[in-house]
Amino acid sequence: MKLLEQRIKKDGKVLSNQVLKVDSFLNHQVDPQLMMEIGKEFSKRFADEGITKIVTIESSGIAPAVMTGLYMNVPVVFARKRKSLTLSEGLLTASVHSFTKNVTNEISVSQNYLNKEDKVLIIDDFLANGQAALGLIHIVQQSGAQVAGIGIVIEKSFQDGAEMLEKLGYRVESLARISSLENGKVTFKGQKAE
Ligand code: G4P
Ligand code: NA
Ligand code: NA
Repeated sequence: MKLLEQRIKKDGKVLSNQVLKVDSFLNHQVDPQLMMEIGKEFSKRFADEGITKIVTIESSGIAPAVMTGLYMNVPVVFARKRKSLTLSEGLLTASVHSFTKNVTNEISVSQNYLNKEDKVLIIDDFLANGQAALGLIHIVQQSGAQVAGIGIVIEKSFQDGAEMLEKLGYRVESLARISSLENGKVTFKGQKAE
């Protein structure tokens, strides 16, 4: 997605060979106009999948997921990373290990919001090692619903997540695919390093 690549070039900050900071439009301040275009693009790419529900994880997955839900006219459920006060029974859970942060979190979704008739589109902001996506897949599977695809805003293709999910048979659509962050530069897949 050209608009997103341009925005990453313009406002993304390369923190290291592994990490891209996009706090000004995705992870802290959010650009609603850009999120709208992102939602439109995901809804176009997954239009033929019969999606009935979108599942994401708090916090940064919520903005692109809600915009996608708006365009697809389906509800959006976000997995929680902390136990909610009012939500304790009937939870579907999975543990998600972050290699980046070296912590394991229990994530959860109420079983009220997923059922076996659902065809689920999983949305997230970043795909690195794919552990968050895998946790969401496990939660969807526990409900008996089907994962129809995975939509990612920014894929770091030099990490293992995309390949791992594709090997498992999932359709992964990433709107920006970064092949390298070396030398302080963002290089997109299919583009020659500058
Ligand atoms: P994985 O799920 O693909 O295995 O990724 P990982 O454990 O490495 O990611 C942990 C957190 O760091 C996630 O956010 C993920 O979105 C984020 N992340 C991973 N790589 C990058 C990167 O290069 N840049 C940025 N900006 N974020 C990255 P989180 O902790 O769940 O945060 P949030 O959703 O509340 O913002
Ligand atoms: Na994040
Ligand atoms: Na995320």
